[in-house]
Amino acid sequence: MKRFALVPVFAIAVAGVTMAQPASDPVRGKTVYARCAACHDLNTGATRLGPSLKGIFGRTSGTMPNFNYSQAMKAKAVVWNADTLDAYLAAPAKNIPGNRMAFPPMANAQDRADLIAFLKQSAR
Ligand code: HEC
Repeated sequence: MKRFALVPVFAIAVAGVTMAQPASDPVRGKTVYARCAACHDLNTGATRLGPSLKGIFGRTSGTMPNFNYSQAMKAKAVVWNADTLDAYLAAPAKNIPGNRMAFPPMANAQDRADLIAFLKQSAR
């Protein structure tokens, strides 16, 4: 009996993990990226209001040449990957206090997952 009683608990735990990291859709992520495009070039290296996101995966924060970063962004020295991008976009001001990206928290985890999947494919 005890064994069976554990099954629903396990199912809830799995559902919880799924909700924390939703399956991602890069095609939908392209539409989410429209919110970033005014400030961030994707793959030419050009500076807009913000630094280019060319090669953002694996890049250390604050290291794009020719962009005048805040001290906070340089000092954070975080390596950008799916997890660190997710944490930053969910709460830019809290994640890197003093950084100069004027962007509100992106509360929707699905939006973040889709956007990050799109960036992984396209920000090269
Ligand atoms: C209003 C302009 C603006 C918008 C919109 C914006 N950003 Fe930014 N972003 C910036 C600026 C400016 C910085 C540099 C911040 C600093 O130096 O403190 C930055 C920094 C970043 C960085 C760190 C880059 C590096 O080289 O370390 C990432 C990653 C980033 N933004 C992603 C995004 C994404 C993804 C979106 C869309 C969801 C977005 N930003 C929307 C202006 C913007």
